[in-house]
Amino acid sequence: MTRYARITGTGSCLPPQRLTNADMVAMLAPRGVETSDEWIVERTGIRARHFVADGVYASDLAADACRKALEAAGAAASEIDLIIVATSTPDMVFPSTAAILQHKLGIAGCPVFDVQAVCSGFIYALTVADSLIRSGTASKALVVGSEIFSRLLDFNDRTTCVLFGDGAGAVVLEASDTPGILATDIHADGKHTGILCVPGHVSGGQILGDPLLKMDGQAVFKLAVGVLEDTARTVLAKAGKTTEDIDWLIPHQANIRIMLSTARKLKLPQDKVVVTVDEHGNTSAASIPLALDHAVRQGKVKRGDTLMLEGVGGGFTWGSVLLDF
Ligand code: UT7
Repeated sequence: MTRYARITGTGSCLPPQRLTNADMVAMLAPRGVETSDEWIVERTGIRARHFVADGVYASDLAADACRKALEAAGAAASEIDLIIVATSTPDMVFPSTAAILQHKLGIAGCPVFDVQAVCSGFIYALTVADSLIRSGTASKALVVGSEIFSRLLDFNDRTTCVLFGDGAGAVVLEASDTPGILATDIHADGKHTGILCVPGHVSGGQILGDPLLKMDGQAVFKLAVGVLEDTARTVLAKAGKTTEDIDWLIPHQANIRIMLSTARKLKLPQDKVVVTVDEHGNTSAASIPLALDHAVRQGKVKRGDTLMLEGVGGGFTWGSVLLDF
């Protein structure tokens, strides 16, 4: 009998502080940084984002999302035998945020590690977890995307600081006789490092370089629309499916224009696209599991639906997962 990996529960966490575009305008004005609700909505679709309070870390958001996912799956934390956290904003340089999360969930012993593929992180993490479950190495995994991008933002740079937010999303992924994940597809091209990066590092007790987010938005936009169509078609071909089999497209939530352009290219109606970028902004590796959990809890995504998850981001990295929910 074929062994598959299947999502049995989803959960998410948004920090309570919600900032509208008007709040951002007011926050940036004293710095002499001009922006407007009209510009942000028209160019990105973003209306609000959530920022954490001081003292809150990626593992805290992850723990909350995981507890909700475990509850939805009807599983106890003690049953978990693998934790993978996708994050570019870890609590510490080391150990991994997954190790800190494991302890916060009150468990020990199972393998845990972080995956760093920026906004494609959740797609990478799900792909790795799928492989480990299908190979028999794990049976019940927590796969998490958790990010605190507000701490990487340069609030003097209007081209980036209005785009990102904080949050976490998690799924319980279990071994199953029925699919499950149907196919996965992940890629990277490191020559594009410079178009989306945080070019700083820790050395000799100091931060060297610039530890704030830099993005060439137009370059990222152009690459994103191309690779998202390619990976969608590749993963469909791997699974022997067509776009007509897709019930919901759940893309990385960076820009509504990129998401709708992907849908158009795949000839998918707009109402099959799960959109949360308006309320969450771009939460990097957290955006896909956050969007999935919101769609599940709103009753949009139902058991048996076929979902196309797609991510793209710094690295440059991109990829997709096709699954039966
Ligand atoms: O998560 C990883 C993936 N990331 C992405 O997918 C992001 C991809 N890129 C994008 O989403 C878009 O490129 C942006 C939203 C970042 C920018 O949109 P755009 O339509 O490419 O705008 P632009 O960079 O061409 O800028 C147009 C104008 C510029 O003014 P001038 O030079 O035409 O006078 C900018 O200075 O908009 C100006 N501008 C702003 N104005 C008001 C840039 N940011 C702002 C702002 N408020 N926040």
